[in-house]
Amino acid sequence: MKKLENKTVFITGGLSGIGKACAIAAAKEGANIVIADMQSKENETAMAEIKSINAKAIFTECDVSVFTHMQVAIQKTVDAFGSLDVALNNAGIGGEAHKIGDMSEHAWLKVINVNLNGVFNGMHHQLAQMAKQKSGVIVNMASILAKVGFASSAHYVAAKHGVIGLTQTAAIEYAEEGIRVNAICPGFIDSPLLVKGGISENKEVKQLIVSLHPMKRLGKSEEIATGFIFLASNESSFVTGTALEMDGGYLAQ
Ligand SMILES: NC(=O)c1ccc[n+]([C@@H]2O[C@H](COP(=O)([O-])OP(=O)(O)OC[C@H]3O[C@@H](n4cnc5c(N)ncnc54)[C@H](O)[C@@H]3O)[C@@H](O)[C@H]2O)c1
Repeated sequence: MKKLENKTVFITGGLSGIGKACAIAAAKEGANIVIADMQSKENETAMAEIKSINAKAIFTECDVSVFTHMQVAIQKTVDAFGSLDVALNNAGIGGEAHKIGDMSEHAWLKVINVNLNGVFNGMHHQLAQMAKQKSGVIVNMASILAKVGFASSAHYVAAKHGVIGLTQTAAIEYAEEGIRVNAICPGFIDSPLLVKGGISENKEVKQLIVSLHPMKRLGKSEEIATGFIFLASNESSFVTGTALEMDGGYLAQ
């Protein structure tokens, strides 16, 4: 028996990196997939890859930082498949690196709007639907930087700490309605996000980041997807309000 057979799984930022790996893993477990992402040239290839595993997959263009976009995306999901069983709030950006005194309001708000407000926007509409159903699972993509600080990344660190707060609060608020809410805290993962942040190309910076992990390597998106399947499926039926660390030992130090 597949772990997500006929479940409808909604994933923000599912065209790339960790989100795409989670979509592929969920499709392999028999789920209908809805990808909500900004329109991008990766759309066709990523969607073709997902559909080659399970044809019941659709794309909806959406900016998670816009409240009404999320409302439309959730409505499209329910219209297409009849329910919303699992939501993965994964879309995120890195942002400019500055110390707090040098960080512009614009740089701060850009990251907060996507990485924190985007998760609230998603959860608001997802929880309203799941409360009607009296069932559902939400997984939020946090980070190791949801638990500790990181120089020059105050916007990202604050947003991800906020994601844990949203996760724990929703878990308490909705536990009696049959809804579980958890987060994942990945260490640094070898995904396009690190390319955009200039980490992948810069040998010295990459080596420094690698050295921060006791396992002395970056994680893979597929390794995070295993945690997502655990939290999304009934294997974690007594797990809610947790933030699963998948980080090569980063936070154990
Ligand atoms: N890569 C890492 O090292 C790492 C570590 C810990 C946590 N994370 C988190 O994992 C999540 C996924 O990261 P990734 O490494 O796969 O990044 P990625 O850049 O490969 O993928 C992010 C996806 O989100 C989409 N996206 C960005 N802004 C959006 C918006 N406003 N609305 C809708 N979609 C949007 C992008 O188009 C892209 O498809 C992020 O929340 C990130 O903060 C990443």
